[in-house]
Order: sequence, then C-alpha cells, then structure tokens
Amino acid sequence: MSAEDVSPLEEAKAEHERLAVEIREHDKLYFQDDAPTVSDAEYDALRRRLLALEAVYPELITADSPSQTIGAAPASGFAKVTHARPMLSLDNAFSAEDVREFVDRVRRFLGLPAEEPVALVAEPKIDGLSASARFEGGKFVLGATRGDGQVGENITANMREVVDFPETLTVKDAPDVFEVRGEVYMPKDRFLALNEAQAREEKALYANPRNAAAGSLRQLDPSITASRRLHFFAYSWGEVSALPADTQWGMVEWLQSAGFTINPMAKRCATVEDALALHAEVERMRAGLNYDIDGVVYKVDRLDWQDRLGFVSRSPRWATAHKFPAEKAQTRVLAIDIQVGRTGALTPVARLEPVTVGGVVVSNATLHNEAYILEKDIRIGDTVIIQRAGDVIPQVLEVVTDARPKGTRKYKPPETCPVCGSHAVREFNPNLGREDAVRRCTGGLICPAQAKERLKHFVSRDAFDIEGLGVKQIQLFFDEGMVTRPDQIFTLPEREAAGDIALKDREGFGETSVRNLFAAIEERRDISLDRFVYSLGIRHAGQATARLLARTYLTLDGLLEGLAAAQDRESEAYEELLAIDGIGRVVAEAVLEFFAEEHNLEAIAALRGQLRVADFEAPSAESPVAGKTVVFTGTLETMTRHEAKARAEALGAKVSGSVSKKTDIVIAGPGAGSKLKKAEELGVQVMTEAEWRETVGG
Ligand code: IVH
Repeated sequence: MSAEDVSPLEEAKAEHERLAVEIREHDKLYFQDDAPTVSDAEYDALRRRLLALEAVYPELITADSPSQTIGAAPASGFAKVTHARPMLSLDNAFSAEDVREFVDRVRRFLGLPAEEPVALVAEPKIDGLSASARFEGGKFVLGATRGDGQVGENITANMREVVDFPETLTVKDAPDVFEVRGEVYMPKDRFLALNEAQAREEKALYANPRNAAAGSLRQLDPSITASRRLHFFAYSWGEVSALPADTQWGMVEWLQSAGFTINPMAKRCATVEDALALHAEVERMRAGLNYDIDGVVYKVDRLDWQDRLGFVSRSPRWATAHKFPAEKAQTRVLAIDIQVGRTGALTPVARLEPVTVGGVVVSNATLHNEAYILEKDIRIGDTVIIQRAGDVIPQVLEVVTDARPKGTRKYKPPETCPVCGSHAVREFNPNLGREDAVRRCTGGLICPAQAKERLKHFVSRDAFDIEGLGVKQIQLFFDEGMVTRPDQIFTLPEREAAGDIALKDREGFGETSVRNLFAAIEERRDISLDRFVYSLGIRHAGQATARLLARTYLTLDGLLEGLAAAQDRESEAYEELLAIDGIGRVVAEAVLEFFAEEHNLEAIAALRGQLRVADFEAPSAESPVAGKTVVFTGTLETMTRHEAKARAEALGAKVSGSVSKKTDIVIAGPGAGSKLKKAEELGVQVMTEAEWRETVGG
C-alpha cells in the first residue's frame, strides 16, 4: 500500500481502533471459544489493513494493538505449561510482491547491501496445530500446545501417541535440553474415515482435519488420541541448551537425523525467486497431498541473522507465511440477522443456504456493518460468492447480480436494538468527522444482550477467570435473573445459604460442583488492579491498556480520582491520561466515557463491597534499562537504528524520538546535534554506543 492510499492520521487512528476491536473479538472467538465467525482470509485482511496503517503511522502501534499480541489463553481441562520460550505466530504475505518486500525489510534491518544474497528455507505451512515437545538428556519429557503463545496445555501423554513422534532423539550428541516445535495434523484419509465412523455412531462430525486433530490431541484419555493416528512435522525449536547447527537448513537436517519427520518439500532457496518458484510448485501439488496446507513459510537461513532480526512481539522478523488464495463457492442469502455485542455493537450476520467450500459445510457469514452490505449491495435472497480459508465461517465476497431473482429484499438497518428495543444509532465520530460505521444499541446495561456479554467478559480467562463459571453458566444465571450484575456473582454463596436460590438442586449442579464453584468465587475476592480494570469490559481497553492504566494510577482510588478529574478535557489529569505511552485519544475517550457513566461507577462500588482490589505492583526490573526512556541520536555504528530500537524495547526500555525531562538515557553517536545538546542542558545521562552495549550486555 502506498502512503497516498492512507487517510490522514485522525482517520487512520479511528480506523485502526475499529480494526483492533474487531480483531480482538475474532481472536477470542477463534482461540478461546473455538467458534470463529470469519474466514482466515477475512481475518488476515483485517490484520493486514491494521499492519499497513501501523507501517505508515507508527504512533498507532500501541501496547495492546493486535499486532503486539497473539491468540487468547487456553481453555481448561489440562494442566498449564508456561513455555520456556514463547510460541509465536507468523506474519502473512499474500503476493510475490509482499514476499520480495519481506526480504527487502530483512536487508534494511540488517543493513545489508542490495546484492547480498539472503538465502531462505521454504516449506509448506501445515494446517494443523502447533505443539512444543521438550527433550532432556535426549528423552521426551514434556509436551504442550501453543495456547496463547506464553502458556499452553500439558499434552505429554497424548504426544506420545502421535504416530511419527520419537520419544528418544536418535543422535549421539543430543543437547541436554532440546525443545522441538512443529505441527500435529491428521492426514486427510484418516479424517474422512474418522468422520464416517462418527456418522455411524451418530456423533458430531468434525468440520475439517485441523479441528479433528485438535479434538484428538485434546482428549483426556490418551488411548483415544492413539486411535486417531495423528502425525507430526517438525520445523522449529524453543529452548535449546546448545544449537546443533548455525543455519535453519542445518537445523532441518539435524531434526531429521534426530528422528523427526521433516516435510519432504522443505528446501533451501538461495534467492527469493527460487522461494517463489517453490511456492508455485507446492500450490500445484496441494490438492494431491494427504494433509491440509494453507501456504508456504519462508525463514531466513542464517541463524545469526535470525537472532539479530528478533521478533516484533507477535511474530519473528525473519519469517513470513505466504498464503494460498482462499477457496470460493456460490450460495444464497436466506436472511440477515443481528447480533448484539458487549459494547452494544450490532453486527449483521448473513444466514446462508448451506454449501460445501473446501470440504466444509458453511451456513453463516458476518457482514461487519451496514456500510459493507450497502457497498456490496447484498440483499436477502441474493446469490453470492462466498470465500473461506482455513476452518472458519466465510465472508461474502460479492453478489452475482446476473443471478439476482425477483423479489430480493434490501437490508434495512434496525433503528432499535432487536434485544432491548433501545435506539440503535451510528454515533458521530469526531475523529472521522462523520458517523461511525458501527451501529450501536444505546441501552447500555439495560440491554440484556449487552449486560450478558459483559458478564461473560467479566468471568473470562483474562478477567476474573472463575473456575466453573463460564459462558454456559452465565447464560443460565442471567436468564433466570440470578446474576444480572457482576457483584451478584459474589453474593451467590450467601443467597444459596439463605435459601433464596437453590443451585444444588438444578440439573448440572450437584452438591460438589456448587461447593467447588463457591470456593472458586471465594478465591477471586482478591484481584489485581489490572485484571479488575480489564474485567470491566471498557470499549477499546484490552489487557495491555488495563495494565497501562494500573501502572499509571497504582490504586483503584487513584484510578477513579484520576479519571474523574480527567473528565475535564482542559485539566492536567486529562493530559496525564493522554501522555500514557500506548494509550491514544480514541482509547482515552472510551475510558473516560466509561467512567462518566453513573451506572458503571455504581457497578464498581457494588463490586468493591464484595472484593479487594490490590494496588498495582511493578514487576521487578529484569534488565538494567527496564522502564527507562531512551533516545538514540547520531550515527550508530554496530547496528541499524531499527535494530537498536527493537533491542532496547526487548529489554523493557521505552524508545522515544525526542529528548525531554522524562528521558533517562541518550545514546549519542557521531554527528549527534540538537538532541545531544538538549540532553546536556537537561542533565540527562548520555552514553556512547559502546557504553550502551556494555550496559545492556553486548
Ligand atoms: S515456523 C516463530 N513453519 O503456522 C514461529 N510454522 O501462522 C515459527 N505453521 O504458529 C513458526 N507450518 O503453528 C512454521 N512450516 C512451518 C509451519 C508453521 C505451520 C504454523 C505454526 C505457527 C503458525 C503461524
């Protein structure tokens, strides 16, 4: 995308916020609820637009931008495993141009001349689920799913049942610790056989091999996993005590010698054009393979370069996934329904005549908002082209206007919320200077749909995370009027004791489960400030924003007072809120809007009557520059500016472009001018590049 295509900053900001909210919702649906509502392609398009905006306006890269976070936390049932090294995700490329741009970026970051060859390892991107397996002294000791990338689930027993997974490394010089990473998948023929068996037994069918593999790996009984005949391709590694090779290709060969299955199409490519040729070849072979793939992954071959390139928190700079185009099909729109979200957003959803796309039956697609419907002129009764990639519900690409039957009905946006009847409006967005694309229910908490969604958020994994109180239970408690506000969760035990409610007589709630639920509720009467803030479900405020607010205001009283004062947009308190690095104006306004609402303050007060919110505790500094604000100026001699910034940030420092009272260190190279002068005037510590390297350890 060129800079000309991009709207001015304010517009970009607003669009970025909208995309972030949408992406986060899809992440949750996909990772936590196993119930995605959009196709991979659609999701990727949202992410790509977000990244494109961030590329042009780096100030949009806030700490809780989806570009900086991945996935969602694991579901329960298995013990949790904290990964020794996080399991990350991959950036996507959709065209040869994107791939060439990826290599150019690598070159720029490393400061390599244009003629310097950048060899890549290319291999199919397997559409399974990633797993990490730890070997100690050459023996398999621990297996884990990816989970949210930081914490996964312990699947050791089930990994042992994966057909071609070795329990012992078959090399003499195996490192003391070696964590292999790769993809667990179900071959297509096994998938078809499994579904036939499921059908015979009148059990639910799996939508695709990936879901079947996930379901099979997450069986509490390993003998079921064994019967499913899963396979494993190794392609990467986590913690390793001594690396057995110094290139990606060397590692691929080593993995094979150690007993792992390597994808037979993996290849070392000397140039980007060779890599693109492999992509074309793999795409040709795709349909004939006995496993699903959705693209080709390219990785920089030299590991010393991988090291220097490092990560942008979600994905490595040294790798990218070149996706295949999504699969398409034709079907009919039967109806357009409305879903009401936690913050009142009304999302139109197309109900489709069921159709098979790439082996999966699909019957819904999200339509985003009315502008999307209008732009594509999607009508009820229309024949449409839908597209899906991966295992999710597709998007409507376009209407087949030639096939438009008589009597199609145009979609009419609701003027009232279909759940509570409150006005549904598109608010004027001052950042856009026009109406928001999203229509919202103005009912707030009087809207049962919003109240219920908020409660679901309140108990979700990253919020209160109350064991035994999930979406299903909230649904039930809410519908029966037992819990319509968050604080009522905490009065369940006393109401049960007083005989006002009788949970234990209810289906699905024996005495033990009620006791366990109440114990879990008791456990959550102490909560950290950041979790508490996150749990409130403030629009646009994800975990990272909640953490920033907690870190800034330190106590709940401090937060309430600070934000009350900030309601005055002329105040210092407002300036303080805006000055938080990572909180932009849109987020700040959403936060203030939340704390301006009487009913929200009442909900918080009611909660305080039930629980204790701990003051924020700063994590102990792990590096000498953690939390420091640093500025690089002048010429850097051993690294590019981009690399310097990335490394400083990886060590917990904040990198700023200008020197102020708040600057802690200025790293000045040859040719430093006004910034150095200002640092000296302000008495800010100044270092050379060499001194900086010494401070941060090389
Ligand atoms: S390399 C640091 N290679 O794709 C990330 N990933 O969309 C290293 N995947 O989480 C990943 N095939 O689960 C790599 N040949 C391959 C892959 C592959 C599938 C998955 C992996 C990753 C996801 C990212």
